[in-house]
Amino acid sequence: MIPDSDDQQAAADALVFFGATGDLAHKMIFPALYRMAKRGTLKVPVVGVAASKWDLTQLRDYARDAISKADGGVDDPDALDRLLSLLAYVAGDYGDPDTFSALRHALGDAKRPAHYLAVPPGLFPTVVEGLVGAGLNQDARVIIEKPFGRDLASAKELNRVVRSGFEDHAIFRIDHYLGKEEIMNLLYFRFANSFLEPIWNRNYVASVQITLAEQFGVQGRGAFYETAGCLRDVVENHLFQVVALLAMEPPAYQGMAAVSSEKFNVFKAMRPLAADDIVRGQFVGYRDEVGVAKDSDVETFYASRMFIDSWRWAGVPWYLRSGKALAGTAAEVVVEFKPPPQSLFDDAVQEDARGNYLRFRLSPNPVIALAARVKRAGEEYVGDQHELALLNAQPNEEQPYERLLGDALAGEGGLFTREDSVEAAWTVVEPVLDNHDRAHSYPSGSWGPEEADALIAPAHWHNPMPDQPSPV
Ligand code: BG6
Repeated sequence: MIPDSDDQQAAADALVFFGATGDLAHKMIFPALYRMAKRGTLKVPVVGVAASKWDLTQLRDYARDAISKADGGVDDPDALDRLLSLLAYVAGDYGDPDTFSALRHALGDAKRPAHYLAVPPGLFPTVVEGLVGAGLNQDARVIIEKPFGRDLASAKELNRVVRSGFEDHAIFRIDHYLGKEEIMNLLYFRFANSFLEPIWNRNYVASVQITLAEQFGVQGRGAFYETAGCLRDVVENHLFQVVALLAMEPPAYQGMAAVSSEKFNVFKAMRPLAADDIVRGQFVGYRDEVGVAKDSDVETFYASRMFIDSWRWAGVPWYLRSGKALAGTAAEVVVEFKPPPQSLFDDAVQEDARGNYLRFRLSPNPVIALAARVKRAGEEYVGDQHELALLNAQPNEEQPYERLLGDALAGEGGLFTREDSVEAAWTVVEPVLDNHDRAHSYPSGSWGPEEADALIAPAHWHNPMPDQPSPV
């Protein structure tokens, strides 16, 4: 898919990285920059900015440590050296104009910097103001991280703040899900294969389930999690993006802008949620986490039944579910087709005689599998469902942050979230942000509270099997 010529922008000539001494930098960004250096796609100076009173040597040590602890470690010392030689560091308070003067100086001849705000959203206004005050927003772009607000009003306010310094085409909103190969493949698989189109609608699809299950808990992020909860952390953004790619109409022309428009239409067609469409859960032990209130009602599990009020999807339930401290770590989509119109065979009435389905395992061990029934040998006309599986894991895949930062530097906006889509998604969840039952507790290592089963009855959830290997 090509970027639209209207949208193509000149490549950035420096990456400014606010929050360079933080957690996200360590976990995600330095490893991504290293992989870019290995591929030869990072050639511009990288200026770290943070309040920590470090010098460049300390930042380099931090980067080296991050990379050595990431998957793969340091397997290309030359690339690591190249990355470290591109680094510069500015220490200073984001509220102090001197920080931005120092940044201007550190940027030297760079004319089109990309400012990456890997800082808590509460600091966005301060950083944007600082950039504008120093004229560093001129011909520049800004990259921001989810969460894009915590409700519709705060999302609008965030958009207003960022728009006060940057034009829309210069704003890159990162939802790292969109940088995943498996997610891009949803778009590709749907529209590169003609066999799907006739059945990809309410006439043949009975339901769609999307599960993002995590075996781990909040991993020391209790204080952040208290401000978010599962719905805001992963459902309203990551899972909604998956829904949009599965539910969208074909883009009208070849270009990522057409894809973004069709995704926006899906967000607009999503029926706003009501309290009885959702079930919230909290794992036992969550309240003992650091930074978590003893009487917290924040959900660590969330399930919902939603509808897309469009011609294609009228009446088809979409079941979304995510949680921490569940029985396994796996993300999966199951598109379940309606059974044949007539029961011709002996097994058609069996309880497990579910319709055919298409299963997209997003992680781990990605796979796309189409399940169809095949007769068992014997006199009876009884069979089983078997999966035709396609291998989807690619060696040397670009990791999400690598892909997205590379695209942002190159000025390609196709994999980023549009302002109107962010606001439309908040509109869908707005009615249940405060209006809901208390979270039901569930034991760690389970599939969430039992109440979630009632939401989907008489059907049931298909729990992904995390250890299921990719086919070979
Ligand atoms: C992040 C959430 O956006 O996505 C995390 O903040 C979550 O809580 C993560 O674990 C899931 O994405 P991935 O790519 O790590 O599976």
